[in-house]
Formats: sequence, C-alpha cells, structure tokens
Amino acid sequence: MFDLSSLLNKSHRILVTGGAGFIGGAVIRRLLKDSEALVFNLDKIGYASDLTGVDSVLLDLGPNAVDRHQLLKADLASSKQTFDAVKNADPDLVLHLAAESHVDRSIDAPEMFLKSNVTGTFNLLQAVQSHWELLPQSRKESFRFHHISTDEVFGSLGDTGSFSEQSPYDPRSPYSASKAASDHLVNSWHHTYGLPVVITNCSNNFGPWQFPEKLIPVVILKAIAREPIPLYGNGLNVRDWLYVEDHVDGLLLAALKGKLGSKYCIGGNGERTNLYIVQQICSLLDQLRPIEKSYSCFIKPVKDRPGHDYRYAINSQLITSELGWMPRHSVDEGLLITIRWYLENLDWCKIVKDQAGYFGERLGEL
Ligand code: NAD
Ligand code: DAU
Repeated sequence: MFDLSSLLNKSHRILVTGGAGFIGGAVIRRLLKDSEALVFNLDKIGYASDLTGVDSVLLDLGPNAVDRHQLLKADLASSKQTFDAVKNADPDLVLHLAAESHVDRSIDAPEMFLKSNVTGTFNLLQAVQSHWELLPQSRKESFRFHHISTDEVFGSLGDTGSFSEQSPYDPRSPYSASKAASDHLVNSWHHTYGLPVVITNCSNNFGPWQFPEKLIPVVILKAIAREPIPLYGNGLNVRDWLYVEDHVDGLLLAALKGKLGSKYCIGGNGERTNLYIVQQICSLLDQLRPIEKSYSCFIKPVKDRPGHDYRYAINSQLITSELGWMPRHSVDEGLLITIRWYLENLDWCKIVKDQAGYFGERLGEL
C-alpha cells in the first residue's frame, strides 16, 4: 500500500466521473477514507448507479466528512451539463470512469455507448481543456487527466500471449469500439493541445457493489435463487480477473505518478476460464450456504454471446516496474470476499435491480 495523501500532494479538488458506478464508487470510497481531498462526483445516475457504498463511508467518517463529497448530476452526452459540472468542480485532477460498461447491453443498444463513451469523452475533454488553460501556472503544472479504459480495446487473444502497452487496437464489440475511440480522443488531446493525460487499460474487475448484470454477481444470485446459471457457449472463454480494490491502487498510482502521455496495462495475473469461475463460485457457496445438493447442478450452457472475445490476458510489467504496483488479492481470495459480501447484501441487490428494471434476464442475445 502507498500513502495516498502524500501522493495527492497538490491535488485537493478531484473530479471523478462515473463515481456512482462500481469502480468509480470504489475510487471515491478510497479517496474519502485515505485522504483529505474534496471529491466531485459527476454521474448521470443511470441504471447501474448507486451511492449506498459512498454514503456508508461518509457515515463512518462522521459529520465533518459529508462536505467532502458532492454529487454533480450531469450527463456527459450534454456539452452544457459537462462544462457546468467541470466549472463547478474546478478540479486539480480528473479521474474519468463514466461509461456505459456492459458488453451485452452494447449488443442490444449500441447508440447509448457512442453517446456516453465517445461524445461524452469528447465533451469532457473540451470542458477540461478550457478549464486547464485558465488555471494559474502552479495548478496548471500539476494538473492531470486520467482516462480509465479496458483491455477489450485490444481485441481477442488466442491460447497464448498477453496484451501490453504495445498491443495494436482491435476492438470487436460496440462497447470496446466506443472505449477504443475514447482512448484515441484522449491521446489526441494530449498530442494536439498538450493536455496532461494518462491512460490505463485494465482487465475484468470484480468485488462488492458491482451491479448484478456481470458474470460474477449474476452467478451468485442465480445460484442462491436455484435458477439456471447461464454459461455462454462452451465456458472456455478466458478473462484476467482483478479484485476491484487492486485496480483502485493501480489507477491512482498511474494517475498521480504515471508518465504524462503514457498508458499502463493493469491485470490481475488471474486468467481463468468462465467455467472455472462459475464452478469455483458454486463450490464456495456449497461451503458458505450449503443446500441438499451442489450449486453446480444449476450451471446451464446457453447460446454464445455474438462476437464473443475468446481470451484476454494482461502483461502488467510496466506498471509494476515503473510504479511498483502489484495486485494484493488472488482471484480465489477476492471471490471469497465478494461472495460473502453479496450474501450479506441481498436486499441491496434486489433494490438496485428493481430500480433498474432488470430482473436477471439474458441480455445481448441476437
Ligand atoms: P458501471 O457501469 O458500474 O458504472 C459506470 C457509471 O458511469 C454509472 O454510474 C453511470 O451512470 C455513469 N455514466 C455512464 N454514462 C454516463 C454519462 N453519459 N454521463 C455521466 N455518467 C455516466 O461501470 P464500471 O464497471 O464501474 O466501469 C467504470 C469504468 O471502468 C468504465 O469506463 C469501464 O469502461 C472501465 N473498466 C471497467 C472494467 C470492469 O471490469 N468493470 C474493467 C476495465 C475498465
Ligand atoms: O475486460 C474488461 C471488461 O470486463 C470491462 O471493460 C467491461 O466493462 C466489463 O463488463 C467486463 O467485460 P466482459 O464482457 O468480459 O464481462 P462479463 O461479466 O459481461 O462477462 C465475463 C465473461 O463471462 C464473458 O466471457 C461472458 C461470460 N458470461 C457473462 C454473463 C453475464 C457468461 O458466461 N454468462 C453470463 O451470464
């Protein structure tokens, strides 16, 4: 672990976009707990948004902390809302996480992904560029814009090899294409207008507070409801799983210490097939909440995801050697914490699913 307060140095006012989402929420909780920074949370409050986790940290920290978090409800697809929010926050540091993030939804409804991820990033860059240019010299010099992206921009690997900072872009879903476009925009603002940016491309995150539409929470909730656990295709697709708190470490290090204009790949060294993940969750549930049979009997192969990327794996050597980052949790340790958390927070799962009008149905099946 590193000392966040001393690393933040002059970055007192931090704008986090997408802070009502899964990873953005984890970033904000870390900033509130481990620094004195003022956090401005720009979020449109979409279907996957929830502030219960942030609110509970504020409650723990006591009445003096409440003013350190301010929600700026704004849609990045609107240029005016974005400019107003950036002006309001007057940031020293921007951590850009807001995006439509679910591959299956991008198959059903790609337009929203272009609006939020491409136009949204463009509007944010425009607003931040204007803000940065007007800053007094000392704040201007220490200012940073950090764009949080995904390994999916690099496409799909075969049985061997891994993605690194040198991998060519080859996105294959509407989601990953929109994230690739946003990476290119951020890069171009650096080269053309001099905006001080850093980009990270991370692998699959998991952990508490993830909206229950992604693989791990879906499996946990389907299993305990004794419903079929949907395993796409043959279950042999591979993802590189990373516990969300470890991603937060990495992205904060890159944002604050990374070389400007650079990108860093962040992965968990946690390559697993989907079949392994699903079976492991079932066997941990067998221990934590035993029923008369193994939860694995609910696993059901279903029609594959269209354009399903076969394998992702990350070579994190650069961020390890340059910034000293390493994941602190193994996949199995993270899974145990995550499963316990979901078992203790089933009410939260029901509330957020009801609010979103999502009831565990299959998404992204053509
Ligand atoms: P999430 O879907 O849980 O949260 C995204 C948040 O962004 C939501 O609160 C949503 O309301 C907000 N948002 C979306 N569009 C917006 C808009 N137009 N204006 C304002 N707010 C908007 O996503 P997540 O899993 O927390 O992912 C966060 C970021 O990290 C994304 O950029 C994603 O591409 C990237 N990422 C995610 C993973 C992963 O495994 N989840 C891995 C690597 C990178
Ligand atoms: O790699 C980083 C990416 O990881 C992020 O950029 C995305 O925002 C994030 O959603 C995630 O994308 P994936 O498509 O890999 O995650 P998802 O949880 O949707 O699926 C993980 C794997 O599990 C994938 O191979 C599809 C499969 N799957 C998924 C679901 C929801 C199933 O087999 N059954 C399911 O019900």
